[in-house]
Amino acid sequence: MMTVAIEGKLDRSSAILALGGGVVGDLAGFVAATYMRGIKFVQVPTTILAHDSSVGGKVAVNHPLAKNMIGAFHQPELVLYDVDTLQSLPPRDVSAGLSEMLKHGLIRDEAFAHWCEEHAEELLALNPEALGYGLERGCGIKAEIVSRDERENGERALLNLGHTIGHAIEAIAGYGEFLHGEAISIGMAGSALLGEKLGAPAGLYEDTVRMLRSLRLPTTMPAHLDTDALMEAMMHDKKFREGHMVFIIPDRIGAARIVKDVPVSAVRDVIEMLRKGE
Ligand SMILES: NC(=O)c1ccc[n+]([C@@H]2O[C@H](COP(=O)([O-])OP(=O)(O)OC[C@H]3O[C@@H](n4cnc5c(N)ncnc54)[C@H](O)[C@@H]3O)[C@@H](O)[C@H]2O)c1
Ligand SMILES: [Zn+2]
Repeated sequence: MMTVAIEGKLDRSSAILALGGGVVGDLAGFVAATYMRGIKFVQVPTTILAHDSSVGGKVAVNHPLAKNMIGAFHQPELVLYDVDTLQSLPPRDVSAGLSEMLKHGLIRDEAFAHWCEEHAEELLALNPEALGYGLERGCGIKAEIVSRDERENGERALLNLGHTIGHAIEAIAGYGEFLHGEAISIGMAGSALLGEKLGAPAGLYEDTVRMLRSLRLPTTMPAHLDTDALMEAMMHDKKFREGHMVFIIPDRIGAARIVKDVPVSAVRDVIEMLRKGE
């Protein structure tokens, strides 16, 4: 894409238009952030997930060893969203996009998390009213968090709920087997189990899994993903610092916090528990 930009003689007054899903948005955004130290870009998301990722200005590309390790903060000039484009999305991609929507409820808004579950069938059927409200509220929560901590010095990290385990799944399985939203769904089930281990009330995991399943998302760890390999991948993840594992841990539905010293053994136990779907 850089070659095309150079060949096309894009200059500082040019803009890149990202028409497509989150992968296109991330790649085009990263190129726009770094080409000539930054040119403008416009996002036209065509997936539910890309709509969510167009908020917040994070753009990144993957490295074979770790997801999203190479990136930048670069806000689009404009986001144009036409929900009609979603009509052609495969059902798996619909569910995967709703995974991030529910995530916002799980970290910040209990009523919204319940709303997502109660309206799951309408959301899956792309009912315009349900989808409109869900997108608005989900992105609203994200925007509120990002506006207070754009560079992720603190609170913004809450948006990574389910992502430490999720990124490890994506890296181990090879990008492609799991959709991002599916991988973080398994990760969010794992975070709820960790939450219970660290003192959250029993029932948190059961409620979380029920909500995720209502959106037809996976919640168990597939047998072919090796625990050692997953642990290794998590060590490469940017959320691993100073010998401790940093995790976003839910306290209950609608509230989560950043825990910087989660024991590695607890994470390993949770990976094993996730296999049985306990
Ligand atoms: N930057 C961020 O803040 C952020 C946040 C969350 C996720 N992401 C990234 O976004 C990526 C996932 O995005 P995604 O789920 O959109 O995946 P994607 O971009 O791979 O799109 C999914 C699939 O749907 C196809 N597609 C796109 N729009 C379509 C449409 N309207 N109809 C039919 N098919 C369509 C695509 O060609 C692709 O095969 C991941 O790489 C993830 O890391 C970034
Ligand atoms: Zn994500």
